[in-house]
Amino acid sequence: MLLRTDGRRYFRWVTALFLLALVLGSCSPENHPQTTLLPRGDYAKIADDLLDTTVRWALLVFVLVEGVLLYAIFRFRGKPGDPEPHQTHGNTIVEVVWTVIPALILAAIAVPTVRAIFQTNAIPGKDALTIEVVGHQWWWEFRYPEYNMTTANELHVPMGRMVSLRMGSNDVIHSFWVPQFASKRDVFPNRETRMWFTAQAEGNYPGQCGEFCGIQHGRMAHRIVAQKPEDFQAWVTHMQTLAAKPPAQAAAPAQGAQAEGEKLFTAKGCIACHSVVAVNAPKGMVGPNLANVGARTYIAAGTLKNTDENLARWIRDPQGIKKGVLMPNLGVTEAEAQALVAYLRAHK
Ligand code: CUA
Repeated sequence: MLLRTDGRRYFRWVTALFLLALVLGSCSPENHPQTTLLPRGDYAKIADDLLDTTVRWALLVFVLVEGVLLYAIFRFRGKPGDPEPHQTHGNTIVEVVWTVIPALILAAIAVPTVRAIFQTNAIPGKDALTIEVVGHQWWWEFRYPEYNMTTANELHVPMGRMVSLRMGSNDVIHSFWVPQFASKRDVFPNRETRMWFTAQAEGNYPGQCGEFCGIQHGRMAHRIVAQKPEDFQAWVTHMQTLAAKPPAQAAAPAQGAQAEGEKLFTAKGCIACHSVVAVNAPKGMVGPNLANVGARTYIAAGTLKNTDENLARWIRDPQGIKKGVLMPNLGVTEAEAQALVAYLRAHK
């Protein structure tokens, strides 16, 4: 009777574990792009392979140990009336075996781990695309010295060419992280840290500051836009034209709301913190570079989708949307916000 009740309990446990495995197995990272489990670059692939190796060994150990344990529990279960079992103490052979096997397994994990450490810390070659990354509370600045060009929050990279990141911070410690391309790397004021990756798939990938850096740390996101080499080149060529005014205005003087917005951009003081030129942009600006803000997918470092409505909301009430951000509420009216949106939308 006792045995049958126990058997049922085990059956319930096994069923529950089976269902749990089924549920976990159906969780797909496909709809959650901020994952390290779907690497889209060589660096992330190295880390993911290492994880796979470790998990495989852990699974093997788990199955073997639990298997032996369950076997012992069922096979040697005591029954009422059994005599006292034979007592043993110590077994040299068994102890040697269970010391040597884990040592070998650890070695099998250590070898690829050390190899991965050296691979990921390799210094990029001369043909890598150098990009300077600067963390700010709470947004990311990206500079391309090769093209004398600056942008913010959305980092365009060409597929197949190694990107060499040289990173620092303008204020506190942040951590640059794009899960599908590379690991986290802290950035510090007055100290350079480096990382590299090569994008192997096209797309727009989310990244997130990975180190608590103040109350809006959670709204310090960025995107990596990985493009085919020819598309990336076209983007660079286009950005090179954003040296003065947006192209539409360079050809003919701005009209209506756009012209009004341009005046307001100066009158309201936006221009003190934001540059609207990509080429030869001034360094050390307080706010993100806006040369191509009209074309970005998000504004306010991943906080809002880049729609006209959201941009107007943001301009009118940055403190309400992202409290503590350096951009003050400037008392912009709805009509003024519309004009500023028209002006900024032309910057793409
Ligand atoms: Cu920057 Cu957290």
